[in-house]
Amino acid sequence: MTIFGMRRREGNASSTQIAVPSTYFQKHPSVPHLRDQNEYRDLYQKSIENPSEFWSSMATSCLKWDIPFDRVHHGSFDHGDHGWFLGGKLNACYNCVDRHALESPDKLAMLYERDDPEGAPQKITPGCTKGDIVTIYLPNIPEAVVSMLACARIGAVHSVVFAGFSAPSLRDRVDDARSKVLITVDESVRGGKVIQMKNIVEDALTGDEGRKVQCPGLRKVRTSGGMKNVPSGRVIVSQCSSLRRVRKMFCAGDVGWITCHSYLVYTPLVLGITTVVFEGTPTYPSYDRFWQILDRCKASHFYAAPTALRMIRKMRPNGSSIPLERLRVNASIGEPLASNVWQWCYEVFGRKEAHVLDTYFQTETGCHAFSPLAGVTPTKPGTVALPFFGFKPALIDPDSGREIEGDESRGLLVFKQPWPGIARTVWGDHARYLKTYFGGHSGYFTTGDSAYRDRDGCYCILGRVDDVVNVSGHRLSTAEIESTLLDHGAFAEVAVVGIDDQLTGQAISVRLPQEPGRGGQKGARTISKTAYRGNYWSLCSTQEVFLVSDLPKTRSGKIMRRLLRKMLEGERHELGDTSTLLHPAVLSNIIDEVNEQA
Ligand code: WT7
Repeated sequence: MTIFGMRRREGNASSTQIAVPSTYFQKHPSVPHLRDQNEYRDLYQKSIENPSEFWSSMATSCLKWDIPFDRVHHGSFDHGDHGWFLGGKLNACYNCVDRHALESPDKLAMLYERDDPEGAPQKITPGCTKGDIVTIYLPNIPEAVVSMLACARIGAVHSVVFAGFSAPSLRDRVDDARSKVLITVDESVRGGKVIQMKNIVEDALTGDEGRKVQCPGLRKVRTSGGMKNVPSGRVIVSQCSSLRRVRKMFCAGDVGWITCHSYLVYTPLVLGITTVVFEGTPTYPSYDRFWQILDRCKASHFYAAPTALRMIRKMRPNGSSIPLERLRVNASIGEPLASNVWQWCYEVFGRKEAHVLDTYFQTETGCHAFSPLAGVTPTKPGTVALPFFGFKPALIDPDSGREIEGDESRGLLVFKQPWPGIARTVWGDHARYLKTYFGGHSGYFTTGDSAYRDRDGCYCILGRVDDVVNVSGHRLSTAEIESTLLDHGAFAEVAVVGIDDQLTGQAISVRLPQEPGRGGQKGARTISKTAYRGNYWSLCSTQEVFLVSDLPKTRSGKIMRRLLRKMLEGERHELGDTSTLLHPAVLSNIIDEVNEQA
């Protein structure tokens, strides 16, 4: 079996590196911590050659410890028993809130943008006790952040369940975590629509049959009506108005995802940066909403998923007239940022004034594993640039299990040594943790992604190892085919899946959201052929092209190809768990549209 059998045309990753725009330094008085790329490389080298020294110095300079640690790291990949900063004790909430409040009491911690730009804010917080596992089922509102910090403060464990999850998904997560306390809100508002979250919680607790008691371990449910205490400390909730000259970061994700745990809550707050909490959607009440928020909040850093950027690009190809006086960093996460979308982010969205970063990480890494360093290292569109501090990547040949040396090569992406943010177990199933992340190739942490390393040592993520199509023995990465179609420029969104084919084993099936003026299905077929030209996989001609009004996506923007595949395989009534879908109705629309075009 050869997973990475095809040679990759270099076309998707641009061969040129793009320097940090000079406006980066003019827009704000603060300067990056490092001078240049060489200093970055030196520090990176230190971080992987002497990780204990590196992490010890980071941990003492960035955090306030109640009891200093006496050992930096313990454990191995083989045993999966990692421990960090042993003997030390700190309070994450104190580090996020109190110490900044003591230093500069009038500095903003959070800015809250409601779904409706005209609305007024509220202040509320719940309480619980040490050792409890608290399920937080809240939308993107300041109370979600406050609840997380309240847990951290008293030593409770927070399990944040994405607010888009259905009653059964919520119930499973409450039971799985053996949670005693659940914090929710009566209702939330998103894109102008009211979602009755308390009703969903009631369904989760009573079950489908109505009366049966579910989640037996749960002792307390707090809804917005029941929350009374207002937190002490620095958390000031305010509409964007107060425009003090501090750094502000707008991470436009959902607080239930790792991206927001790391880059909406803990990182900005620990560093004393104001974090923007946005409850709504990028498209309501207009497609200018991101520009509007960045302008109102005077945010310097913006972080979003490529799917949101693609959608806005489609609706606002020429950008917006709203100025972005402070925007210096425009970063994306979660999927590949196709070169042409990167270009749009750079030229149109950020007017060549912001450093555009394609960042890579996973829930299991907890923090960036690859990214250009804002303001320091150049960007190379189509790649996630260089490994981040403490990450020592390698590419593995899936057949031999051996490391692939040298550049311009592809393989399974693994990491060779641990870092502080590494996932430390699968809750209640340590054996699964060991098998999933360390079982395949001993001595490595396995990401489950395949990647390409170019001649400059920059990495390009090719997608999940499972997302491959096997056509006549050629194993093709769906992400790569999609990227080519996106780079061609004719379509804003594409999904490629493999379908059974008697002749070739599998064939390629392409889904494209409908766009006016593209000549329908026939036109799309021609365009996809043109886009493939010159690529190795043009030999494996596309079997099917369907135009659909939308693609099935999770709220974090990942296309659920599994559902498309099942639909094509005729398993329309056995799609499995669809609870993470952003718009569940999209499935029946796709089935109708495919039937019409088949
Ligand atoms: C998977 C992790 C971590 C944030 C949100 C998702 C894919 C992530 C990129 C990127 C290509 C990317 C990988 C990874 N991914 N960033 N810049 N380019 N693919 O967290 O749900 O744990 O997903 O997202 O496949 O393994 P997650």
